[in-house]
Amino acid sequence: MSSLEEPLGMDKLSSLSTNDLFHRFSSNGCSTSGGDTGMGRCWIEGNASTSSNNDEEDFEYAQAVFTWRHHARDRPQYGNDAAYGNRCDSRHFPNLQQNSYSRDVGLQNITNKIIKGIPKYVKIVEVGARDGLQNEKSMVPTSVKIELIKRLVSTGLSVVEATSFVSPKWVPQLADAREVTEALKNFDSTRLPVLVPNLKGFEAAVAAGAKEIAVFASASESFSKSNINCTIDESFSRYRAVVHAATKLNIRVRGYVSCVIGCPVEGMISPSKVAYVAKELYDMGCCEISLGDTIGTGTPGTVISMLGAVMSVVPVEKLAVHFHDTYGQSLPNILVSLQMGISTVDSSIAGLGGFPYAMGASGNVATEDVVYMLDGLSIQTNVDLGKLLQTGEFICKHLGRRSGSKAAVALSQLITNRE
Ligand code: HMG
Ligand code: MG
Repeated sequence: MSSLEEPLGMDKLSSLSTNDLFHRFSSNGCSTSGGDTGMGRCWIEGNASTSSNNDEEDFEYAQAVFTWRHHARDRPQYGNDAAYGNRCDSRHFPNLQQNSYSRDVGLQNITNKIIKGIPKYVKIVEVGARDGLQNEKSMVPTSVKIELIKRLVSTGLSVVEATSFVSPKWVPQLADAREVTEALKNFDSTRLPVLVPNLKGFEAAVAAGAKEIAVFASASESFSKSNINCTIDESFSRYRAVVHAATKLNIRVRGYVSCVIGCPVEGMISPSKVAYVAKELYDMGCCEISLGDTIGTGTPGTVISMLGAVMSVVPVEKLAVHFHDTYGQSLPNILVSLQMGISTVDSSIAGLGGFPYAMGASGNVATEDVVYMLDGLSIQTNVDLGKLLQTGEFICKHLGRRSGSKAAVALSQLITNRE
């Protein structure tokens, strides 16, 4: 039996690198050898449009697409082969000129246009244990939360948001913030920020051993009122006091802006309002600003306008994007954000969560889906997809729910079919 034919359970996934995983399930994926399944064709497969305005280039482009499809049909089939063709070797990025399609000027132009500005490394901020669990119906025992966070850390994630020091009357799901933080206070390898809404929360977080915090404002006045019971300007005064206290203790502060695209009460939010709130948080000392599409109504079109406005007042390297996946737009939204230079992306294991004060809002984009997409783009994350799948399975089993990650569902199915 070849190694590819050996049965593989979820328990064995962690011993496989992401690379192994893709090669195991994807025939040879986007092989770098042979030159006939290069980066360019992975990008354009199924894409009938071209920005080329040259007939000859269009013809070559069409030929390239056709050739790829022909090869794809000839490949051995592995049932529901979700991972098939995902991975493009990173060597294709810097060395586009050297692959065998470099002569195809039209194709190269298209590829260059698409990948222009995309960072080589993306930092993922895992928010499942906080944003996810704050809105799960079932109360998760403290020991399970701690185990979840430890497992998330073991996947290679460098930032795992742990919990919130908010009013337990408002968010009873996270009423054990102190116990969770205390249990993790000796974790030094991974940053484990916690949310605080005011000085009271900050003091409790510090007493429990938190080394990093996040404050959360909104670009919508109505949402600010319903979420934290104060106006946007009042929230700035609260957060100035928090940032001031944190700075004295050398504690790093992240600032969230909610409703960066739409608000459940006010509808569309203007990009200039988002830019105003983001700049206030940045100017008061927040070292990273996470832009939250709380109700998930954003599309690449609205995200571009919003990011354009924010990037004119806050440096792009200080920005993160935080998409809830209510309308299934998160991955394209992340892709355009990367194209605009963003290199920090928030996501939630198994797409856990929703939002308690925004009816109908669903969980964040699933971390597994983000890592799968970034792997496909050869963008480094340092996150082990196999371990991530196991962690998602762990928490979904506990919650008695199906994973919100399409990649996780497809890959698990693939593994089951092969066993
Ligand atoms: P309030 O009622 O205006 O506060 O709540 P208050 O100062 O009048 O105090 C009321 C009670 O809360 C008092 O207790 C306080 O001691 C207590 P009582 O005397 O009645 O027994 N209290 C606290 N208890 C624990 N920890 C605290 C704290 N502060 C006051 N820190 C408050 C104001 C902000 C506290 C409340 O509205 C609250 O806790 N809201 C939480 C909202 C929340 O957690 N939302 C979810 C997180 S934000 C998010 O998910 C969006 C994000 O993901 C980005 C995106 O997707 O857009 C970040
Ligand atoms: Mg959120």
